Amino acid sequence: MWTPPARIRHRVSETRWPSAEEAAGSRWFSPIAIGDGTRLEQRTWVPAMVPWRATEDGEVTPDVIGWYRRFAQGRPGAIVVEATGIRDIPSGPLLRIGDDRFIPGLRALTEAVREASEGRTRLLIQLIDFLAVKRRPPPEKFFARFLRPDAGHRARMARATGEERWLSVDEQALRGALLAADDELRAAVLTARERRDLSFGYREEVNDLELPHIRALPQTLPGLFADASARAQAAGFDGVELHYAHAYTMASFLSRTNTRVDGYGATLEGRARLPLEVYAAVRARVGARYPVGCRMLGHEVIADGSDLADACYFAAAFARAGMDFISVSKGGKFDDAKRPKVGHAVYPYTGQSGYECMPTVYSDARGPFARNIPLAATIREAIHEIGLTTPVVAAGGINSFEQAEAILARGEADIVAAARQSLADPDWFRKIRLGRGAEIRRCKFTNYCEALDTHHKQVTCQLWDRAGLDEPDVPLSKDGRRRLLAPRWDPAAGD
Ligand SMILES: Cc1cc2nc3c(=O)[nH]c(=O)nc-3n(C[C@H](O)[C@H](O)[C@H](O)COP(=O)(O)O)c2cc1C
Ligand code: SF4
Repeated sequence: MWTPPARIRHRVSETRWPSAEEAAGSRWFSPIAIGDGTRLEQRTWVPAMVPWRATEDGEVTPDVIGWYRRFAQGRPGAIVVEATGIRDIPSGPLLRIGDDRFIPGLRALTEAVREASEGRTRLLIQLIDFLAVKRRPPPEKFFARFLRPDAGHRARMARATGEERWLSVDEQALRGALLAADDELRAAVLTARERRDLSFGYREEVNDLELPHIRALPQTLPGLFADASARAQAAGFDGVELHYAHAYTMASFLSRTNTRVDGYGATLEGRARLPLEVYAAVRARVGARYPVGCRMLGHEVIADGSDLADACYFAAAFARAGMDFISVSKGGKFDDAKRPKVGHAVYPYTGQSGYECMPTVYSDARGPFARNIPLAATIREAIHEIGLTTPVVAAGGINSFEQAEAILARGEADIVAAARQSLADPDWFRKIRLGRGAEIRRCKFTNYCEALDTHHKQVTCQLWDRAGLDEPDVPLSKDGRRRLLAPRWDPAAGD
């Protein structure tokens, strides 16, 4: 995992928790509308977090329901269900919504959240599309099976070695020689893309117009997102969040690295075109009043990537098109991810952009707390400048009432979200609301949870996953060593 060069260890600061009356009168605990007909009871929000609890077939399990029920007991204004795949293709234990057969399981999930929050929490679902990412191959396999030797390889080999024979040797000999070659020779002969495939594993890009299914994304994705949104609506979700952030297909269309020459890339307008067409298709399917928003990046934090000015353009375009909220994230890209071990897939939260997405206490002078709020604030200004008030959701290192209230008071966001603090203590919103902030278990921001996510292990929190393992009926991780849900908090009894 990348850490900032300065590597200063920051402390989770002491904070003053409000009384129940102060919380009741606060901005954070005041209602807000998203869209035409939906009201959040509070401006508190749990953003999407993948907990790796679905079946291998992408179905909702009792553990998925337990995970969201536990957040719902804290009664936030909204919870966004984890990134859920819109296609009906195998993708490991990630939730899927790519076929009607997923609807009953998802309906059980929405009903559980409604019951656990006593109808106070609105439940949205994050809809994701992603392209193929293969594991890093052993070099033997790469040179024997994946490399497609051509005249260019032969010419570069001949030039690099000064031996003309490479222009006419048989393919097997060329493959063998490249397998035996040192890094310098491989670098001289392989293309940049081949070097990446060898070192990181093959990964599709939106720029791969030579692949028919990639060329056709502008034709296929609007329908896939629209169908998935209709299923979300049928399953009882209160709205959908289109995943236009991080390392996935839609964010790649928005990225400055999108060089498509088919009208869906290269310029700001071109890059925004498919995300707008996807939104239009979704809106046409779910109707004018159903909440539809997106999660997008305020900054990609990669070389030659999109910056805040690009993000302001996109957010204004989305707001103008009619989106009901814009949730701002940062980074989380494949482009600067750490090289995986052979047999493992590259993970988009291991480089600097990944750090910026989920910053830890090992930070630079600025520290991890509320680090990404300036992005949300500037995006919100851009939306206001065009005369709209589409709510902006901000996240990143939020762990206290004081921070959230100050962000809202300064007009930097309309809704303040907390992922890891909510995982550390799913009851924390309720504790604040009841004037019992002193009982909150405070996140350490050292990313034990994120490390589990990286290894596709069931996500838990270090602050509670070893406690009370012998409690009756407590669900345990596959290895039996960690509890999967935070200990219960009984408001009548205290912590
Ligand atoms: C375990 C884990 C899984 C996550 N999964 C998602 C996801 O599915 N979609 C998404 O947009 N963000 C995801 N995130 C990012 C969070 O939503 C959030 O933006 C990030 O953790 C920063 O907020 P925080 O400081 O409040 O944790 C995930 C974060 C964690 C820790
Ligand atoms: S594991 Fe660490 S970073 Fe993650 S929620 Fe718990 S305390 Fe916070």
